[in-house]
Amino acid sequence: MRDLTPNKSDLESIEIASRDEISALQVERLKSTLTRAYENVAHYRSAFSAAGVHPQDLQSLEDLAKFPFTTKQDLRANYPFGMFATPREEVARIHASSGTTGKPTVVGYTANDVDMWASVVARSLRASGTRPGDLVHVAYGYGLFTGGLGAHYGAEKLGCTVVPVSGGMTARQVTLIEDFKPSTIMVTPSYLLSILDEYRAQGLDPRKSPLAVGVFGAEPWTNAMREEVEQAFDMHAVDIYGLSEIIGPGVASECVETKDGPTIWEDHFYPEVIDPETGAVLPDGEFGELVFTSLTKEACPIIRYRTRDLTRLLPGTARSMRRMEKVTGRSDDMIILRGVNVFPTQIEEQLMKVAGLAPHFQIELTREGRMDSMSVHVEALADAASPEHRKASGSDLAARIKDVIGVSTKINVLSPGEVARSQGKAVRVVDNRPK
Ligand code: DLL
Repeated sequence: MRDLTPNKSDLESIEIASRDEISALQVERLKSTLTRAYENVAHYRSAFSAAGVHPQDLQSLEDLAKFPFTTKQDLRANYPFGMFATPREEVARIHASSGTTGKPTVVGYTANDVDMWASVVARSLRASGTRPGDLVHVAYGYGLFTGGLGAHYGAEKLGCTVVPVSGGMTARQVTLIEDFKPSTIMVTPSYLLSILDEYRAQGLDPRKSPLAVGVFGAEPWTNAMREEVEQAFDMHAVDIYGLSEIIGPGVASECVETKDGPTIWEDHFYPEVIDPETGAVLPDGEFGELVFTSLTKEACPIIRYRTRDLTRLLPGTARSMRRMEKVTGRSDDMIILRGVNVFPTQIEEQLMKVAGLAPHFQIELTREGRMDSMSVHVEALADAASPEHRKASGSDLAARIKDVIGVSTKINVLSPGEVARSQGKAVRVVDNRPK
C-alpha cells in the first residue's frame, strides 16, 4: 500500500491548532449555538427553563453539563419541522433517518449548513489520503439517508471527480470500478464485502483493482475487518463516523497515517462521554455514551444529543483534535444473553479468526421455554465447504465465542452465498423471540 499521509501544509490551520485555541473557539461557538437554540426553538426554550438554565450560564466548557440532553424522542415529538431554528423557507435541504419504529427523525440544513457539512467531509477525505483530482466512487445510498449526498458534496468540495453510484446492482459496481478506475471508494463495510464477493465471482483479482482507499462507515466494523479488506483489496481502510441528527457522515474520521480511531472535527461538533445510567460527564479515556453538541449549525442546532453509541474520548495523535475509539456498539444493539452483554462486533472479531469462514454473519435470537438462545448464521468459504470442514469451523467459532465472550451459541455454517447480504447497513441481529 502506498504512503498517502497528507502534507501538513495541506491541512486547515485548525486541524493543527493548540488545544487552547480549539477550546476558546468551542466556548465562543457554544455560546452562540445555545442562544440560537433558545431563541428560535420552542423545545429548547422550555427544556432549558425546566432545567433552570439560560444560555448566559455557559462561560466555560464545563458549564455545558448544566444543560439538558436531547434525545431521539425529543426529535420525534417535534416531527416534522419543530426543531428548526430557521423558517422552513430558509432550509435548503432535508434528510431523515429511517428508524425501525415510528416516524423518522427529520433534519434540516441551510445553505451554510450544507457547505459546512461538505467541508468536514472534504477534510475527512483528505485525512483518508484522498487528494483533489482523485476519482471517488460513492456507493452509500442516495436519498433521505445522509450517506450518499453527504459523501458526494464532500468529495466535490475537495475537488475530486465523483461517481454517484449509490448502493445496489453489485455487478455494475464492479464494472464501474474496473472501467472508471476510482482510487477511493465510500461505502458501508458490509456492502464492500458484497462487492468483494462479486469481484471473485467475476474471476477478477481484487488486489489488482484501482482502489487505494476505502472510507467506511454508517455501521460498526472491527479492526479485524480492516485487516481483511486491506489484504483483500490491497488498499487502506479508514473509518468515517457520523449520524444524521448531528449532520451525517463527517462528524469524525480516521487519518490514514495512524488508523487509530476517528478524529472528531471538534471545531464543529463538541463531544462528551457520559455515564448512560446517571448522565454524569465522564473524564476522557472512560467508556460511556457519546453525546454531541453542534457548534456551527444554523437550521437544526442540537444540544447534548445522546447518540447511544458507546465509546471513549482519546487524545489527538495525527491532529490536535481528540479522537473517539472506533465505535463497536450502540446501546440499542446490545444483546443481553443470560446475563452476559454481547455486541455483534464481538462475534465479528471471533469469526474473522476462523480460517474456513467468510466474513458474512447474522445473529438470530430465539426463546426456548424461558431461556433466550442465540444462533450465529455464518458461511463457509468455497474451499472449506465440505461437511467435515464446516463442522470443524463451526466448533472452532463456538469455542472462541464461549472462551472470549462467555456465552454458548449455536453456529449454523451455511453454503457460500446463503447469508443475507446488505446493500447499505447490514442487519446483524434478527430477533425472533416472542414479544
Ligand atoms: O449512518 C451517517 C453516515 C453515513 C456515517 C455514511 C458514515 C458514513 P444514520 O443513518 O443517522 O447516519 O446512523 C447513525 O450509525 O449513531 C452509529 O450507531 C452508526 N454509525 C455511523 N458511522 C459509524 C461508524 C449515518 N463509523 C448511526 N462506526 C450512528 C460505527 C457508525 N457506527
